[in-house]
Amino acid sequence: MNQGMKSSTLLISTYLLQATLAFHQTNQPSLRTTYSNKSMSKLPESANDSSESVLAERLCKYQHRDPIPSSNIFFIELGFGNDSHGQSSTKAAIRACRNSIEFNSIPSIQRLIPNGGYDNLKLDVLLAVPKKYQHDLDFDQVANVFPYGDVRFELQDGGMIAPSGIAIERLGDVGDDMVVVCASVTVGH
Ligand SMILES: *[C@@H]1O[C@H](CO)[C@@H](O)[C@H](O)[C@H]1NC(C)=O
Ligand SMILES: *[C@@H]1O[C@H](CO)[C@@H](O)[C@H](O)[C@H]1NC(C)=O
Ligand SMILES: *[C@@H]1O[C@H](CO)[C@@H](O)[C@H](O)[C@H]1NC(C)=O
Repeated sequence: MNQGMKSSTLLISTYLLQATLAFHQTNQPSLRTTYSNKSMSKLPESANDSSESVLAERLCKYQHRDPIPSSNIFFIELGFGNDSHGQSSTKAAIRACRNSIEFNSIPSIQRLIPNGGYDNLKLDVLLAVPKKYQHDLDFDQVANVFPYGDVRFELQDGGMIAPSGIAIERLGDVGDDMVVVCASVTVGH
């Protein structure tokens, strides 16, 4: 083998190794754990019994229907939001949801939905929130981000806690954690 062939073989092997690793990582079931009616027992270990049941109750309210079937999905949008001071997962989730939808306009939506208009629009919102900050998540406030549509929430462990480097008491900081939330918004009927 000449030098050129060796290095391209090496490149391809490296690529395949990375692809294999990525495949295995994305297939780890633990990363896809979502909290729903069926798995309430898996709610955050960090939460105590009372905060856990409060969170479960808040979530239940937004799981009154099944997820949108894939044949009825128009599109899926992703967003992220943070609260750099104050450690509010609600604020971070609100920003993540706004970020998912804020640059869109779908003027034909009323025509796309069978049997008429905005009332039958459904939104499935998956939030990835750091476990440590899930207890104060207020789904009602997050739902208000969406001007119309029947909102269904699912919660997943995720997002990120990053250091802000400074705790500013005046801004409500109890530490220097920046709370980052990711949102996936599925729009359909
Ligand atoms: C449990 O969680 C609730 C709600 O977040 C909080 O008010 C309460 O102080 C917590 N109790 C303990 C023992 O940590
Ligand atoms: C989820 O729980 C709520 C409240 O208990 C219930 O009304 C609803 O039917 C449940 N949804 C599913 C999909 O099981
Ligand atoms: C990050 O958090 C700060 C407030 O703590 C807020 O002003 C800013 O808009 C947030 N950025 C994003 C992208 O969510």
